[in-house]
Amino acid sequence: MASRRGVLKIGSAALLLTAAGSAAAWALTRAPKAAQAPWDAAAKGFGDARLDALAYAILAPNPHNMQPWRVRLTGEDAFTLHADPARLLPETDPFSRQIVIGFGAFLELFRQAAAEKGARAEIALFPEGEPKPYLDARPIAHVRLVADSSAPRDPLFGHALARRTNRNPFEKRAVDATILERIKSAAVPGVFADAVADAARLAEVKKLADDAWRIEWGLDRTRRETIKVTRVGRREIEENPYGIALAGPLLEALGGLGVLTRENMDDPDSTAYEQTLANYSAAIVATPAFLFSITSTNTRADQIEAGRSWVRMQLAAAGEGLAFHPLSQALQEFPEMEEPYRRAHALLASGGGIVQMLARVGYAGDAPPAPREPLAARLLKG
Ligand SMILES: Cc1cc2nc3c(=O)[nH]c(=O)nc-3n(C[C@H](O)[C@H](O)[C@H](O)COP(=O)(O)O)c2cc1C
Repeated sequence: MASRRGVLKIGSAALLLTAAGSAAAWALTRAPKAAQAPWDAAAKGFGDARLDALAYAILAPNPHNMQPWRVRLTGEDAFTLHADPARLLPETDPFSRQIVIGFGAFLELFRQAAAEKGARAEIALFPEGEPKPYLDARPIAHVRLVADSSAPRDPLFGHALARRTNRNPFEKRAVDATILERIKSAAVPGVFADAVADAARLAEVKKLADDAWRIEWGLDRTRRETIKVTRVGRREIEENPYGIALAGPLLEALGGLGVLTRENMDDPDSTAYEQTLANYSAAIVATPAFLFSITSTNTRADQIEAGRSWVRMQLAAAGEGLAFHPLSQALQEFPEMEEPYRRAHALLASGGGIVQMLARVGYAGDAPPAPREPLAARLLKG
């Protein structure tokens, strides 16, 4: 096994050099443009206020990019929002807490986009009751758009198309405390946001995030949940524009060579398995600051508010020129994660409450827009 791994590593290094030289050409010819088209579609609009705001809502951050939203348009000005049961993450997110956070981000972007067009979004959350402990067929929200030129426009909306999840290692450069304060202040009332930027606590949170990541990647069932929705290279991403996209010249080349495949990622003796583990760990180490958020209780409505705060903080970070990368492993609620979960709460929420988000922030090179399914694909018919 060791020699096989050695061969693959040499191959990878050679490819890295070749691929680095051709990154610009790749961006022109091999970027999964069709899967990124919904970002342009939102900018252009459809000429209908409700669809125009929904076009921004589907750009919301969401776990594993599962895009679990299903939208049933009702009448001329309303819609009902449902969770697609085929797009949940039962292993890593058994109670769909993170999925609901993604819906909170969706509704916040809808609200902001509507206000931009002189409309108010009237949002009734969980109109048939909060589904607990698991999501069910009951709606997440009923939403109605009401023309209202007094609906205040939100300056954060200006960053909606620039917002990215950026998994690159970040520069050493520290993040100014005043910038962290401004980002924290983007959270909505009821969600407490804070930052970690001093050396001793940074080290503790990095260790926590890395320990938790090793548990998630090391367990067959949680790793496989990710691998199942991992797309390698342009063709796979465009065929299925949801899930985790591995794009870029190097990854695409490794995919073409059969080094980076889903099968190899699942083999603990392979380079693909090891490199995935190592790349995420390397990113965790290269972190000058963390942001986190807490709610005092953990109702579905709290999770929605946490999601609204999440995207607002991420938009604020984008506005500050900061890269933003959530690290959710230690906050996950499956049994093997119990120790890091407890440690996360002792470290970050010693006064009580539920930690809803943990993200690294810092300075880094750009990340590409993540794939999205077109809005039409998430509209329920009939
Ligand atoms: C609740 C939640 C948890 C997330 N957790 C992680 C995580 O642990 N690691 C990660 O790399 N990305 C995480 N993400 C980011 C998503 O993978 C990302 O939003 C999605 O792939 C779409 O990409 P985009 O944010 O660039 O549009 C999370 C997002 C949300 C909303």
